[in-house]
Amino acid sequence: MTTSILNKQQQAEQAPLSLHYLGDRTLRQSTKRINKINQSVRDLAKDMLQTMYTEQGIGLAAPQVGVNKQMLVVDCDPGNTATPPLILINPQIQSYSKELAKGEEGCLSIPGVFLDVVRPEAIEVKYKDESGRPKKMEASGLLAKVIQHEFDHLHGILFVDRVPNDLVLTEALHQQGFSTKAVQPVKSKQ
Ligand code: NI
Repeated sequence: MTTSILNKQQQAEQAPLSLHYLGDRTLRQSTKRINKINQSVRDLAKDMLQTMYTEQGIGLAAPQVGVNKQMLVVDCDPGNTATPPLILINPQIQSYSKELAKGEEGCLSIPGVFLDVVRPEAIEVKYKDESGRPKKMEASGLLAKVIQHEFDHLHGILFVDRVPNDLVLTEALHQQGFSTKAVQPVKSKQ
């Protein structure tokens, strides 16, 4: 872990990486595990964090910047320099709570669309950090929601896929110039 990665004063005028948007096939590709956690992986993490802060997101997954690797970054409290951001490499969600929580989600790849999604309220996640150290974490509330949202990205799933395909979804997408054809509903809706 280097301080340069965890420094939050990284908001650039222009994000270092370009975002991919709903309808782009890159968002639907499967991702590869990262075998070697080296400097280029840390550089990608740093660029993803800087992009996330610049675009004012609280989570970002590698496919959103056109990289089909299993990495995501999260910072639920970007304004607070006391709490470091999280970098999750090869994350695996090991357990889900039975309790569900409904909350509004948005996505940097689907700007302007905010809709309710139901997900398990708490999770246990296993991953490697940017130094290659294995980690295990329990998360609940907003953090659990963000990790699940970003984890979905690593498997080609977008939050709109989890919104029942009703008028609300169609209207929200059309208002922002997106097509409902880009939505791929997940089979097990809660
Ligand atoms: Ni997203």
